[in-house]
Amino acid sequence: MSLISFKKPIKNFIVLEGLDGCGTTTQTALLVKKLEDCGIKGYSTKEPTDGSIGRFIRSVLQKKESVDPFTLALLFSADRNEHVYGKNGIIEQTQAGKMVVCDRYFFSSLAYQSLFIDYDTVADLNRFYPLPEYLFYIDLSPEECQARVESRGEETELFEHLELQRKIDANYKKSLSLLAASEMKTVVIDGRGSIEDIHNQICKALDLTA
Ligand code: TMP
Repeated sequence: MSLISFKKPIKNFIVLEGLDGCGTTTQTALLVKKLEDCGIKGYSTKEPTDGSIGRFIRSVLQKKESVDPFTLALLFSADRNEHVYGKNGIIEQTQAGKMVVCDRYFFSSLAYQSLFIDYDTVADLNRFYPLPEYLFYIDLSPEECQARVESRGEETELFEHLELQRKIDANYKKSLSLLAASEMKTVVIDGRGSIEDIHNQICKALDLTA
């Protein structure tokens, strides 16, 4: 088994992860709103970012551009480096006293890029980045997630296929087990409930009561 070594967790940094269709984007928005209702300054962000590297990645996900899987892993890492350490990035936001809530982070790289390149290689490309204080993993079956993706009626993106979703699910479970002993607080959320149920599970874990 691989031994993953990332940088120590930074406080006030929350990451939401899960398969495509599990609802991380909806839950990120709800959580930031809840933080604000509780008088905590929140900052909502996501990966891939809206920056120039992130926009190029998005065109690869939409199958408008095609790159080698290792190039894609490098691009995600480069986008992340800007996102974490760049101007107005995650570090800067936490230092300004904000609670950063991020829709996907390097756990996605570990789960998705390792479909096509060695897991340890992906981990190595991401060793520069700090763990979040909290990782919320929204756990929902690949079958249910894929059904949700297809019910949107939109063109599917690169990884939105059931066979891939099953492998990505297994990769996520591998990371959760490898990182279980890390200093990051990991909370696995039952993704089968309503949007509100899931939101409440997240708020409870963070002790947000307002
Ligand atoms: P989303 O914005 O709808 O969550 O889609 C982002 C897609 O990019 C999703 O399929 C997961 C994938 N992804 C990776 O493959 N590696 C990464 O490091 C990240 C952040 C996302």
